[in-house]
Amino acid sequence: MPENEINVDEINEVLIKRAIAFPAAEIYGGIAGIFDFGPIGTLIRQKVKELWRNMFIWAEENVFEIEGGLLLPEPVFKASGHLDTFHDPLVQCEKCKSMFRADHLVEDTTGERADSLALEELWGKIIEQEIKCPKCKGSLTEPRQFNLMFETEVGATGGKKAYLRPETAQNIFLDFRRVSHAMRATLPFGIAQIGRSFRNEIAPRNYLVRMREFTQMEIEMFVHPEQINNHPYFYMIEDQPIRLITRKMQAEQEKEPLEITAGEAVKQGLIPNQFMAYYIAKEAQFVEELGIPRDNYWFRELLEEETAHYSAANFDLEIQTPMGVIECIGNAYRQDYDLSKHSKHSKTKLTIQYENKPVVPHVIEPSFGLDRIFYILMLVTYQAGDRKWSWFKLPPYLAPYHVKVCPLQKKDGLPEVARELFEELREELDAIYDQTGSIGKRYARADEIGIPFSVTIDYETLENETVTIRDRDSTEQIRVHVDDLFEVLHLLINADATWEEIKGSFAVESSKKSKGKRK
Ligand code: GAP
Repeated sequence: MPENEINVDEINEVLIKRAIAFPAAEIYGGIAGIFDFGPIGTLIRQKVKELWRNMFIWAEENVFEIEGGLLLPEPVFKASGHLDTFHDPLVQCEKCKSMFRADHLVEDTTGERADSLALEELWGKIIEQEIKCPKCKGSLTEPRQFNLMFETEVGATGGKKAYLRPETAQNIFLDFRRVSHAMRATLPFGIAQIGRSFRNEIAPRNYLVRMREFTQMEIEMFVHPEQINNHPYFYMIEDQPIRLITRKMQAEQEKEPLEITAGEAVKQGLIPNQFMAYYIAKEAQFVEELGIPRDNYWFRELLEEETAHYSAANFDLEIQTPMGVIECIGNAYRQDYDLSKHSKHSKTKLTIQYENKPVVPHVIEPSFGLDRIFYILMLVTYQAGDRKWSWFKLPPYLAPYHVKVCPLQKKDGLPEVARELFEELREELDAIYDQTGSIGKRYARADEIGIPFSVTIDYETLENETVTIRDRDSTEQIRVHVDDLFEVLHLLINADATWEEIKGSFAVESSKKSKGKRK
């Protein structure tokens, strides 16, 4: 996905116009960094969540999903370190009073990473590079730390501070004891959560990339510290090719990712343990399911100065997009940091029995940002220029609907037959019915929201029980017998057969030539 090939502003407008993703409270001018997802956006996001659940929860024996509270009391964040360290460097324009992230301004001016520079270093760069307010060229204040959490008080009389969670992970650590007991969990096991997180970003930007309210899909995998390099199912992914950029490669300015298998990366010590490599390999498979071109993503080992003090290793999944490189998944080896801190602050034992001894497990954390993944999916699949309308080439299993059912005309009994077929199809597939406007317009509307197949009931259906299927990508149509329709759609939606293969095996000729016989 080379930069400048895609017009991002144009796609953002399409996302708004089709109510896929648009600013929240739009009629009041909205709040920067908060978005609503309309019916189509919600359906597509649902599909991405289901893919994630399929691959990371249901495919595993021992990962339990929870849904935790969004508002948590102050002591949680005292213990987790967020109150003291979860901040970004803020500068303000002395003239127009606009606020900016100091590190972003320095990066935009120098072209070098600045997210790990100390306040004094950032100030030094601002002076040295004579960086001014991007809006009015006014002078900037000295940077100060700004805590990103949203604070509130609980109860009618207030007095009890609480914060909106800045990551879903904290509920998981807080619920570790209860969930492990209730589920009779034994190490290794995981707790997963999909939910909203909140960060009062100084400068939300790039549409869904840096938001103030966003959705994370996180897993905390609890592992015996001595078993961290011994994943029971490692053999299932050890041959998975991955693309890595290690710290050493970054020091040597090597930009081309190293192509290596997950097994070999652990053997060579490039990834610190099997549990971390297991998730990196599965994330590579997940990104392939999304249809992101292979050359456009890699896993980058964070530099020492980018790595949180509690983490023994971090690998981010980064994707090259028209807006530059975007981190979509963070993988961290959080060790026993969170459980130990919460145990100490809450005076609660957070251990689990392993071979009759209490253990504080270590944690591997794959943390996915749904909004960034969803946005990149829409950017990558956007198509313009080949038709009078723009459309989304979504993989069929991620499309909002698998199939649209249309009667050719609104008369002569066609709607009744079409409705009956629609009712049958929707029992197994995500189907939508449409009888409004010309058939060409209905196909165009299907394309516009990425529906991969449209089934049309016409006069021949009444004669010989055949229907047409239109393929979104080629715009071709074939005629199939209704008895074959379910099988054909299942094969196409699950990518078990190509359109060409379906044409070869299931297409029948029009009754104008024969009576619905297979070719
Ligand atoms: N529990 C670990 C954690 O929260 P993170 O790297 O801060 O780690 C994980 O966040 C993922 O959440 C990121 O890779 C990104 O996809 C998403 N994310 C973080 N901040 C975001 C924001 N302001 N807007 C949208 N997505 C964000």
